[in-house]
Amino acid sequence: MLNFGQFRRVTVLTGAGISAESGVPTFRGEDGLWRQYRPEELATPEAFARDPRLVWEWYDWRRRLIGACRPNRAHHTLADMEAGLPDFTLITQNVDGLHHMAGSRRVLELHGNIWRLRCTREGTTHEDRRTPLPDLPPHCADCGALLRPDVVWFGESLPSEILEAAFAAAAACDVMLVVGTSAVVQPAASLPLIARQRGAAIVEVNPQATPLSDFADLVLRQPAAQALPQLWERWQHP
Ligand code: OAD
Repeated sequence: MLNFGQFRRVTVLTGAGISAESGVPTFRGEDGLWRQYRPEELATPEAFARDPRLVWEWYDWRRRLIGACRPNRAHHTLADMEAGLPDFTLITQNVDGLHHMAGSRRVLELHGNIWRLRCTREGTTHEDRRTPLPDLPPHCADCGALLRPDVVWFGESLPSEILEAAFAAAAACDVMLVVGTSAVVQPAASLPLIARQRGAAIVEVNPQATPLSDFADLVLRQPAAQALPQLWERWQHP
């Protein structure tokens, strides 16, 4: 068993699995979104250029679904960890905003946020939590151009400042918790490998095996809402 009290710098990487118990569908599981929908038809710049209404209908549906979900004990535990640990960084691939809703203050959102809209002409962003959106596809109030979800689509680069901060946190940590990700989408999937190369301990929380499992120092094969509160309890009271 790892001695968690020894870890000073803690980095966490989360994926869709942490929100599964809140009711948000994952991408690659049995009921995963990519089993039912083709990413290239819905989550690429080409798809948006071809048929913005179709893409927006899909995002509007997801926004409604996510809007009805609340953070679970795993999200809340990570907010408690941020408050209780001196050097803590949370990196997420999720766009659902549930970490913020749970009280996490600093979240490196690698793939953007589904509640933010971005002007395709000016690049400006703003939050809009209305569900459903009144007009599909929505247009910029300032310049009239199409708005898009401020999320990263296949074939697009990740926001560079956020990605740099994530790589820095991976390289500098003593332990990385990897929670609810299939660990196959780059560049997020390389963050735990960087942490490990730099000597950090890797803890995986996932009911299923992933390509990362063999590299992990500790594997908790449990749902995150069960594993994380227990882990944090042991961490504080060894
Ligand atoms: P995936 O859907 O690929 O993987 C979800 C993982 O969560 C799987 O490994 C499950 O075993 C695990 N899981 C399911 N329920 C869980 C639970 N209760 N507790 C813990 N783990 C659980 O989701 P991601 O790895 O996040 O990208 O996918 C990465 C990216 O692929 C997403 O951000 C999205 C997608 O295409 C973009 O949209 C750019």
